[in-house]
Amino acid sequence: MKKPKTTLSRLAIVITVFLVLVIAVLVTLFVVHYFFSEKNAGYMIGVGRADCTGPVAEIPLMGYANPDQIGAGMISRLYCRAFIIAEPDDWSKRVLYVTAEIAMMSQRLRLEVMKQLKERYGDLYQHDNVILSAVHTHSGPAGYLQYTLFMIAGKGLIKPSLNAILNGILESVDMAHQNMTKGHVFINKGLIENSQINRSPFSYLRNPESEKLRYSSNTDQEMVVLKMVADNGEDIGLFMWFPIHPVSMNNTNRLTCSDNVGYAAHLLEKEKNAGSFPGKGPYVAGFASSNLGDVSPNIKGPHCINTGESCENFNNYCPKGGATKCIASGPGKDMFESTKIIGRNIYLKAKELSMKASEEISGPIRSSHEWVDMANFTVQLNATHSGKTCKPAVGYSFAAGTVDGPGILNFTQGTTEGNSLWDALRDALLVEPSNETKDCHSPKPILLPTGELSKPYPWHPHVVDVQIATIGSVAIVALPGEFTTMAGRRVREAVKSEFESQGKPGMNIILSGLCNIYTHYVTTYEEYQAQRYEGASTIFGPHTLSAYIQSFRALARAIAKDTVPDLPQLPEPVIFNISLNLLLPVLDAKPLGSKFGDVVQDARSKYRVGEVVDVHFVGANPRNSAANMTSFTFLIVEKFDNASRSWQVVHDDASWDTRFIWQKGNWGRSTSQLQWHIQNNTEPGTYRLQYFGHSKELLSSIRAFNGSSSTFEVSN
Ligand SMILES: *[C@@H]1O[C@H](CO)[C@@H](O)[C@H](O)[C@H]1NC(C)=O
Ligand SMILES: *[C@@H]1O[C@H](CO)[C@@H](O)[C@H](O)[C@H]1NC(C)=O
Ligand SMILES: *[C@@H]1O[C@H](CO)[C@@H](O)[C@H](O)[C@H]1NC(C)=O
Ligand SMILES: *[C@@H]1O[C@H](CO)[C@@H](O)[C@H](O)[C@H]1NC(C)=O
Ligand SMILES: *[C@@H]1O[C@H](CO)[C@@H](O)[C@H](O)[C@H]1NC(C)=O
Ligand SMILES: *[C@@H]1O[C@H](CO)[C@@H](O)[C@H](O)[C@H]1NC(C)=O
Ligand SMILES: *[C@@H]1O[C@H](CO)[C@@H](O)[C@H](O)[C@H]1NC(C)=O
Ligand SMILES: *[C@@H]1O[C@H](CO)[C@@H](O)[C@H](O)[C@H]1NC(C)=O
Ligand SMILES: *[C@@H]1O[C@H](CO)[C@@H](O)[C@H](O)[C@H]1NC(C)=O
Ligand SMILES: *[C@@H]1O[C@H](CO)[C@@H](O)[C@H](O)[C@H]1NC(C)=O
Ligand SMILES: *[C@@H]1O[C@H](CO)[C@@H](O)[C@H](O)[C@H]1NC(C)=O
Repeated sequence: MKKPKTTLSRLAIVITVFLVLVIAVLVTLFVVHYFFSEKNAGYMIGVGRADCTGPVAEIPLMGYANPDQIGAGMISRLYCRAFIIAEPDDWSKRVLYVTAEIAMMSQRLRLEVMKQLKERYGDLYQHDNVILSAVHTHSGPAGYLQYTLFMIAGKGLIKPSLNAILNGILESVDMAHQNMTKGHVFINKGLIENSQINRSPFSYLRNPESEKLRYSSNTDQEMVVLKMVADNGEDIGLFMWFPIHPVSMNNTNRLTCSDNVGYAAHLLEKEKNAGSFPGKGPYVAGFASSNLGDVSPNIKGPHCINTGESCENFNNYCPKGGATKCIASGPGKDMFESTKIIGRNIYLKAKELSMKASEEISGPIRSSHEWVDMANFTVQLNATHSGKTCKPAVGYSFAAGTVDGPGILNFTQGTTEGNSLWDALRDALLVEPSNETKDCHSPKPILLPTGELSKPYPWHPHVVDVQIATIGSVAIVALPGEFTTMAGRRVREAVKSEFESQGKPGMNIILSGLCNIYTHYVTTYEEYQAQRYEGASTIFGPHTLSAYIQSFRALARAIAKDTVPDLPQLPEPVIFNISLNLLLPVLDAKPLGSKFGDVVQDARSKYRVGEVVDVHFVGANPRNSAANMTSFTFLIVEKFDNASRSWQVVHDDASWDTRFIWQKGNWGRSTSQLQWHIQNNTEPGTYRLQYFGHSKELLSSIRAFNGSSSTFEVSN
């Protein structure tokens, strides 16, 4: 006989069924959410790196504008590094970012890169989603910029320089493009102390008291990193932004070198790509510049090199000898050691931030780019007043240089009065600035009215790129030059608050320096009044920064609203047809009875670690090797492997332990000096150095040759 169900047991059944249903729904929701979010989390990510080293001899090094600083060999190679990040569900929504180990990005390079990208990838890469930036090393070749002022510093437009960088950028992009994989991007930030000073503190002091009070330092000490990790957990790359001038190598250096930030990138890649030669291996560490306009790595500060006394005064002037004697250096005993100390500090922080990075970036990818006429831009200063930018011009203090590398003549920073002799010379040789330009730039006394000079080519650009790209909550602001600390802070705040007022709070604003085109410096209005080097080099006049802030706000608004920026639409700038090249053709010769690659000064038979092997060879002009640079090395250090009875390469010319120094002699003769700085951790054994080159003799074609030192022993 069936027992009748009680109300209580019915209730129990109902509750049980209900609970089971609830749990089932929750599990389903969880599973759906899990797979759904897994499918949408992260991005498609690719990284790439390629050799950008141009010719390492006879071309001026770009940065200090020191006519004596002509390339004569190399310490390190220069690399271009790229990342591409795309939305996982719509690969066409992507950002391509390149950081090149060169002095600055140039309009010429950008236009040529874009042309080639169009040929290779159609419409995937456009002006708005491609950011090209430079680290600002002052030890890379000149000759890849198309405006006359830069060509004066670079002996013209040097195709081998331009092509080396162009090909390096494209190769790094191809690699990143072909290697895209599902992954995740993490952001982290941290302070680097004891690695920077402000080299124009007297300009910085001019900023409003209330503004300065909000910051604890007169430089931005924060490093921002984006860490990229593949879905399988493998670290694929790290890109970082930190404001510092790569001028640890001073203006007497003639060897190609990626300077402090290049050394930092080298150390991180060496660690992650263990066993690979420098510049090889899948992991990419891209170190990029930021608001470095007034930031020096020479942290011992400016001192008179003749008397040793401090010259931290408004004009950086030495009582005996003037401004050219006032030079900053440190922290090492020489520039080589300083480069490594500062580079190591940057590397250590990047590594720490990479290990600890846990904040994942997510969200859509957007970008906005426009050309603005910076020579004719009206700025709304406040409700009642507007200001105008000016046709480009540089002031007297431009010629003074800085404590990182003073000028060659007796100009001083902080000059607000012209000099009748120089004015007369300028008017006679070039042109007298118009009254309009003079007034517009006041209080800058104009040395060169570059905006009014157009022969043989325009001396400076008028139309300038402004650009922002966002990856979820990260906004990369592409600055077209060197913004000072405070100028950068104002841009960062303006862009952040613009996003906020458009309903996008909490954006991480990354200032990316020296992007797309070079327009020298940008100071604040107040710093401009001091007319130190940075103010004198703010080429569009006192309202330059306001014009950029207004433009970047318009871009941020456009991104937030998914529309085009509210800025005048200008046509794309053009590539000039330039045939200006002041380099003489190469002609090599060798001493009678010798061959290229013969040893002139051999290695000793024994060395201890810490010593330097220094071998000299009958040399040939390294420019002959320019076309082969990426598949070539000027030198190798080899170790004899007793077990296999063969020589094993332990270093090539990309190593920071080797130096290739080319000494030009008379009548086409030259000597190539190979150095190996034997590090403490070097294995004892039998070694030799080999030299490779290409010669170009009269009536003959370019020929490859090589030479070798005698073998030598290395012991502890
Ligand atoms: C692509 O990525 C894989 C894995 O990260 C790596 O092994 C390979 O070298 C990369 N290829 C290129 C061309 O970078
Ligand atoms: C630069 O000016 C200082 C001070 O007027 C003077 O002592 C020095 O000799 C000058 N140097 C040159 C190269 O004219
Ligand atoms: C550059 O650095 C070297 C040391 O590496 C030093 O001997 C030289 O005086 C410095 N020159 C200038 C102009 O800073
Ligand atoms: C400057 O810009 C104004 C509009 O803002 C325009 O009317 C004028 O023609 C421009 N001048 C030059 C020289 O381009
Ligand atoms: C607007 O800016 C001008 C020029 O900087 C200044 O003189 C004026 O006082 C400002 N007006 C207001 C209301 O802030
Ligand atoms: C420029 O201004 C000066 C005086 O300030 C005047 O003498 C001169 O005629 C002006 N030049 C032109 C071209 O207007
Ligand atoms: C560039 O200039 C060269 C000579 O200076 C000339 O032969 C060539 O036609 C020019 N090319 C263009 C596209 O203008
Ligand atoms: C150097 O490059 C040229 C042109 O790319 C090529 O023809 C030549 O074989 C290369 N020489 C060597 C030694 O690699
Ligand atoms: C090298 O190897 C040979 C045999 O192949 C051996 O006789 C010799 O002792 C070895 N030398 C050293 C330094 O290990
Ligand atoms: C290498 O050894 C030398 C001499 O023993 C020492 O002075 C130096 O500090 C060492 N360098 C490093 C990087 O360990
Ligand atoms: C060095 O030069 C010789 C000819 O002088 C050639 O036979 C040899 O292959 C070259 N070695 C290398 C590694 O290029």
